Amino acid sequence: MDGRGELVSRVYRRVRRPIPLVAESDVDDRAPLEGGLTLVTGAASGIGRALAHEFARHGHDLVLVDVDEAGLEAVTDEIDTLAAGTVSLQLAIDLTTPGAVDDIETALAELEAPLEILVNNAGVPVYGPFSTTDGGAEREMIRLNVEALTRLSDGLLAGMLERERGIVVHTASLAGVVPVPTAAVYSGTKAYVYSFSLALAAELEGTGISVTTLCPGETDTGFMNRGGMDESAFTDGSDALMAPETVARAAYAGAMAGERVVVPGWRNRLRYHLARVLPTRVAMAISRRLWSGTR
Ligand SMILES: NC(=O)c1ccc[n+]([C@@H]2O[C@H](COP(=O)([O-])OP(=O)(O)OC[C@H]3O[C@@H](n4cnc5c(N)ncnc54)[C@H](OP(=O)(O)O)[C@@H]3O)[C@@H](O)[C@H]2O)c1
Repeated sequence: MDGRGELVSRVYRRVRRPIPLVAESDVDDRAPLEGGLTLVTGAASGIGRALAHEFARHGHDLVLVDVDEAGLEAVTDEIDTLAAGTVSLQLAIDLTTPGAVDDIETALAELEAPLEILVNNAGVPVYGPFSTTDGGAEREMIRLNVEALTRLSDGLLAGMLERERGIVVHTASLAGVVPVPTAAVYSGTKAYVYSFSLALAAELEGTGISVTTLCPGETDTGFMNRGGMDESAFTDGSDALMAPETVARAAYAGAMAGERVVVPGWRNRLRYHLARVLPTRVAMAISRRLWSGTR
């Protein structure tokens, strides 16, 4: 095989293989803790709902958090009829309000069961050139995507550290790996999640706690209809969008294996690898084109 053929073959092998994108953690014992809980935020719809189903399917008992109370009820009913795990508690909470994280911590303490897995998934987009977007919506997005995620990790890690055991999953995005012109603040929040989570994973080495950063590409959820995303180049139901269930399956497998980064789907993995080797200018031109349909 000539040099170019060898290079193509190496890239192909790399993107076909889901893991590891970066080093795996040192945690290998993954059986659910007796009575241990899995908390999922943004669990009423989209990727969070699919994650709740996936964890329940594998026998995990859940605490579901979302601002959408009716949606939480619906997911709980689905899980109660279909899955091996159960929903121990639903918390209808707006994570951007002061005291939301304290309320979650209090509710967990009342359950008197250890939190084994924290899935910090809730997040929203704001789409459009920064000079035209609503600053209030962006500040609220930062409160959810960055502040609530950080506060929840901070508050709930202490118990895991005491028990020397736990799994943290943070939903970032491919938009956190490359800056996205037309979604500057959103991609900034996801770059924060990506960077914070990788750094946290390294800090927690040897503690029994792993941190998995989930980087989905465009996924077929309500996300595509909020925050101005209906103005983007992604149309609801397009073939290019991944099913949230596919994202959740990859996330679950990766989290249980202690992977540091999970990018569901080979096309998305190719984008992830390209983003890290291409000049940033070129990678940004590609993401601008994908998101807005323009160069
Ligand atoms: N879909 C994609 O293409 C994509 C790609 C990469 C990464 N992601 C990330 O994946 C995560 C989940 O997104 P998704 O696609 O599943 O979106 P989604 O279908 O819109 O689900 C988001 C859920 O979070 C809830 N939520 C919104 N604001 C909240 C708040 N302040 N407090 C508590 N819950 C709140 C929403 O409730 P309401 O509906 O009532 O507001 C909704 O149930 C996000 O972090 C997103 O950035 C998504």
